[in-house]
Amino acid sequence: MNSQILVLAFLFLLFIISPFVSGGLDDDILGASYIFGDSLVDAGNNNYLNTLSKADISPNGIDFKASGGNPTGRYTNGRTIGDIVGEELGQPNYAVPFLAPNTTGKALLYGVNYASGGGGIMNATGRIFVNRLSMDIQVDFFNVTRKQMDKLLGPTKAREHLMKKSIFSITIGSNDFLNNYLLPVLSIGERISETPEAFIDHLITNLRGQLTRLYNLDARKFVVGNVGPIGCIPYQKTINQINQDQCVELPNKLALQYDKRLNDLLTELNENLPGATFVHANVYELVMELITNYQKYGLVAAMEVSLQGSSPVGQHLVCAEIVLSMCFGTHIIQVRLPTL
Ligand SMILES: *[C@@H]1O[C@H](CO)[C@@H](O)[C@H](O)[C@H]1NC(C)=O
Ligand SMILES: *[C@@H]1O[C@H](CO)[C@@H](O)[C@H](O)[C@H]1NC(C)=O
Ligand SMILES: *[C@@H]1O[C@H](CO)[C@@H](O)[C@H](O)[C@H]1NC(C)=O
Repeated sequence: MNSQILVLAFLFLLFIISPFVSGGLDDDILGASYIFGDSLVDAGNNNYLNTLSKADISPNGIDFKASGGNPTGRYTNGRTIGDIVGEELGQPNYAVPFLAPNTTGKALLYGVNYASGGGGIMNATGRIFVNRLSMDIQVDFFNVTRKQMDKLLGPTKAREHLMKKSIFSITIGSNDFLNNYLLPVLSIGERISETPEAFIDHLITNLRGQLTRLYNLDARKFVVGNVGPIGCIPYQKTINQINQDQCVELPNKLALQYDKRLNDLLTELNENLPGATFVHANVYELVMELITNYQKYGLVAAMEVSLQGSSPVGQHLVCAEIVLSMCFGTHIIQVRLPTL
């Protein structure tokens, strides 16, 4: 999902900071974050793919200090939720994209980012972008990192590093609706043959498998985001031809249906996987709150592509320049929040 929800970081942080009190080994590392997901948290993996979903072009990055305002592949003007969490963990640098050639050695211990714009829980999701890393592949890649960690620290310390000092955040699912189930052309077969209930069931089954695989690779502290109000994004509103101040009903209904099942899944995993903690981040509610009460948060507008940089750029101009990732994509809110 190509949208910006920087503000949600606060909620993540409330849950995340407390588990990191003392470590014991590799003491210079306070905590590491291993980040999985879609464009909400992609930190540049898609730069290394042949894909139509890319954010390596201005105005992405205009408020990102670490790059001096240059695009990095993040689908946002500033930091992602993953970046902000990393800062709070005291990491010396942001979790590095898995596909970057210099993501090797000690850098792995501070956190790695596997997220990919256009990616989803299902393998077929995001096919329209030609290439992207689906969640199954992201877990495969973590398995590669896992083996490198054994080499770096030795198996016992590597295990302890992952179990005690590492946060696993998973922000995925929006594309499974937007760029799969709800896509008019490519998924028409699936939509005819699968009811929403069956499709969501399928998503939950796959995600259960993916989270369990991470657990089997020694992940223990999880933050899993649900799907936001995807009926409120400009692209859905455009194709469904509704008013600026309204949201499309079906996508929001599907998101809520999925979110309820996700909540149940996380409860189940908390009960069944010993030593693991799964925290549910309610992206839907937070984004809905932002859309409804945007003025309270100092935003000038909600529910439109609002790109604000050093020079104001209008939605249409930007869309003309960056056709796919921004207009076909699904930006909800692109805001500057200097205090975050
Ligand atoms: C890898 O190279 C990029 C670009 O030069 C740099 O910004 C980044 O900090 C490097 N990452 C690591 C882990 O050294
Ligand atoms: C998706 O692809 C991966 C890697 O190619 C494969 O291991 C996995 O079984 C596939 N998952 C589904 C649900 O087809
Ligand atoms: C990780 O990779 C190894 C092979 O190198 C495989 O045996 C194992 O099943 C993989 N683990 C997961 C959870 O995918």
